[in-house]
Amino acid sequence: MDNCLEVKNVSFAYGARQVLKNISFTVEKGEILGILGPNGAGKTTLLKCVLRKERIREGEITLWGKKIISYEQNEIARLVSYVPQEIFIPFSFTVFEVIMMGRYPHHSPTSFETSEEAEMAKAVLRETDTWDLSNRFFNELSGGEKQRALLARALAQQAPLMLLDEPNSNLDIRHISQLLNLLRKSRKDRNATLVFVTHDLNLASCLADRLILIKEGSLHAIGKSRDILTPSSIRALYDVEINMIEDPETGAPIFTYPLDIAR
Ligand SMILES: Nc1ncnc2c1ncn2[C@@H]1O[C@H](COP(=O)(O)OP(=O)(O)OP(=O)(O)O)[C@@H](O)[C@H]1O
Ligand SMILES: [Mg+2]
Repeated sequence: MDNCLEVKNVSFAYGARQVLKNISFTVEKGEILGILGPNGAGKTTLLKCVLRKERIREGEITLWGKKIISYEQNEIARLVSYVPQEIFIPFSFTVFEVIMMGRYPHHSPTSFETSEEAEMAKAVLRETDTWDLSNRFFNELSGGEKQRALLARALAQQAPLMLLDEPNSNLDIRHISQLLNLLRKSRKDRNATLVFVTHDLNLASCLADRLILIKEGSLHAIGKSRDILTPSSIRALYDVEINMIEDPETGAPIFTYPLDIAR
């Protein structure tokens, strides 16, 4: 059983608003899957269904071959880490406390973090450039600083599956490059499986092994990034004209806006 995640015929509605329609796909252990789609297509909702933050009424989601409904919530938190698109933390937690929250699923209610864990958290702080922020209050950080702290929290959790919802949306280019390296390293060192949502076509093409495109809650296309990311598929997904050139060094597609839009 090499499937880490299987989503089978999943439909979901918020009240009367149908958001996901009969979605099916699988993610293999160690795979990096990207999810693209217009605003409101249902990407965040799909991740929340996998995390069981939203309950599906139709279809089935399995993690390592076991239905998510038969897991304890705490077990899911141990197996799946999550970098949310947006977060509201109601109290004044420091960045270090927020990062250590990633370790809670590993503890019994009465146990405290070990010194080994504190060391690991420090390593994560250094890797994500959040060391200097660790004593600051999370709620007082900038958008990009918050995003790095949430990435650090997810990395500290060391879960075999990571779900990342637009993890680069607020990052500067140095930190995007750092994000790419950290995610690749998680796969290389721990064989972590990664599922990420992004609006950045260039990031999707250089990070993902496979992509799924979601349009109006339905699975529009699935396949290898090279086959999926074409001007015609982008046009069909977003209803926009976009130019594609190839990176002369890697052959990876690069997307640019046509001249009449750019000028
Ligand atoms: N809690 C909610 N109650 C009702 N409707 C919701 C709720 N959350 C999201 N929606 C609606 O469900 C649809 C899908 O939302 P979702 O957040 O999954 O989109 P998305 O693909 O992640 O979009 P974006 O790219 O803007 O993040 C949208 O039409 C949104 O308005
Ligand atoms: Mg979203």
